[in-house]
Amino acid sequence: MSSPAILFVCLGNICRSPTAEGVFRLKAKSAGLDFKIDSAGTAGYHHGARPDKRSQEVANARGYDLSRLKCRKVTEEDFVTFDLILGMDEANMRDLKRKCPEEYHSKLHLFLDYAEADFDEVPDPYYGGKRGFELVLDLLEDASDGLLKHLTKQKSQ
Ligand code: 4NP
Repeated sequence: MSSPAILFVCLGNICRSPTAEGVFRLKAKSAGLDFKIDSAGTAGYHHGARPDKRSQEVANARGYDLSRLKCRKVTEEDFVTFDLILGMDEANMRDLKRKCPEEYHSKLHLFLDYAEADFDEVPDPYYGGKRGFELVLDLLEDASDGLLKHLTKQKSQ
């Protein structure tokens, strides 16, 4: 798998996974790497909406532009199209495992498996304050660095 297609998944596709998409997209581009990158939600509450204003604000402050992203729900096709499907928390993983055909279960991982921080899940920031959104961004930057390192190593082998 030289250049895998990567899908980031959370519940609403309005806070965590679009931020992961924006962060990983810029980091990959800065490293001169070209991946197919997208994000989606296990629920469709916000279909067609732009990322949450609070996510956009904290992301903008660190140079990530989420303004053109649009919320969508995970589809059956995603399990075929994408090589790596990265959930933000255990609830996302349970929902994904329920929807995903058994033959593709090896594509499903927690995104923070690639992070150095001592967190297993990216906490849902939706009902909290700005500090929650900052923490989300810290964790997503950490995991993006780890994933890029992992993929770069894989590519050179
Ligand atoms: P996300 O956050 O899964 O990081 O996009 C949420 C967004 C919306 C809701 C829950 C979580 N909601 O209940 O509408």
